[in-house]
Amino acid sequence: MNSFGSNLRRQPLVALAAAPLVALAATLAAQVSPPANPPASAAPGPAPAVDQHGPTIKETYAQCFLIGMAGDVPGNYSDAEIGLIRENFGVVTPENCMKPAPVHPAEDTWRFERPDALVKWCRENNLLVHGHTLVWHAQTNPWFFQGGDKAVITGRLKDHIATLVGRYNGKVRSWDVVNEAINDRGDAETAKTENLRNSRWLQSLGPEFLTLAFRFAHEADPEAELYYNDYGIEAGPKHASSMLLLKRLIKDGAPIHGVGIQGHWSTATVPFDSIDRAIADYKALGLKVSISELDVTIRGASGGQFGPGFGGRGGPVTPPSAQDLRAQAEAYARVFSIFAKHKDAVERVTFWGLSDRRTWRFGQHPLVFDADNQRKPAYVAIVDAMRQPKADSDKPR
Ligand code: G3I
Repeated sequence: MNSFGSNLRRQPLVALAAAPLVALAATLAAQVSPPANPPASAAPGPAPAVDQHGPTIKETYAQCFLIGMAGDVPGNYSDAEIGLIRENFGVVTPENCMKPAPVHPAEDTWRFERPDALVKWCRENNLLVHGHTLVWHAQTNPWFFQGGDKAVITGRLKDHIATLVGRYNGKVRSWDVVNEAINDRGDAETAKTENLRNSRWLQSLGPEFLTLAFRFAHEADPEAELYYNDYGIEAGPKHASSMLLLKRLIKDGAPIHGVGIQGHWSTATVPFDSIDRAIADYKALGLKVSISELDVTIRGASGGQFGPGFGGRGGPVTPPSAQDLRAQAEAYARVFSIFAKHKDAVERVTFWGLSDRRTWRFGQHPLVFDADNQRKPAYVAIVDAMRQPKADSDKPR
């Protein structure tokens, strides 16, 4: 199969990076309809027809970066879902089973059944594993901090990381070492600081808890690539704080290799220009970048917060309109064009979930497979974003 062929063959496609998005919108409208020209307030209608058999995103972007998914595989995934994962992804992030609370619920208790099964299954199916996550303010049981002084808590941190990373030495290629250490809200004043979240880790060990975590992870597996991972760090005061934090870690000799921009966005508010600049900023620090938890909702809040309204579960689910799906496709195509532009720095793009059924943002239709495991217009648009004709200046003379 021609990896640069289109799901929507025989029609010339618009180059996303080179052409105005208005043209893309017209192209998508022509390709994924009926219905044609839905009204702005389109009522939920039949989903546009999408060819299910064109090239995969994974093969289309193979020369740029890895394409991943998050899930606690193989777990209770259906045969159809397992097939989808094998065909479409090259790397798996365990969505939950390696987090501190599930894997290490008490000081003397480890639950390795699911992580072991995940690593084994991935190896048998030629999928890489990205570990998530060693140090986090959430999903971490209180025992880590109880009845201990700084030395004891540092010892627990070291034991946790050494045991987990050591167990999968050579089998897990990279880790989110510290997750979401920077505060959500920021302003001009906090932008001049690291603005660290007031977590139990910060309270117990001070700002050096990050440096220690990276050192312990590196000791446990010197070959593993080590990431700082966070949401909202691509823009505004939080981006400025992330730059200060990363510069400090590098200056202090922390073995950090990359930064994960989570990428929990919403169609109407994707910060395209900020994403472009943030990747360039991190690259300038000598770091790799991963888009580590990508999902672009059709509706609903963006961000990565785990809190009230989490996942949008519980309420009635409104199906997306054809117009919703087209807008989401444009947003996805545009962010992939930005990632591809920075392919020298971006090493992995991971979707957070598998489908609109297997997602923490259920009801907000955030992924590129629908709830029935079918490719959505966004899938096609991402593939077609790579089929741009070369600009004249790029052509060989
Ligand atoms: O495992 C238990 C299960 O035993 C129990 O029966 C069930 C009942 O509710 O709960 C299960 O645990 C849930 C787990 O997901 C697995 O489904 C937890 O309650 C629930 O809190 C947990 O939510 C996860 C959340 O992180 C908190 O850990 C989401 O699936 C996961 O997508 C989300 O992922 C985070 C990233 O790790 C970090 N960035 C933000 C992102 C979204 O919040």
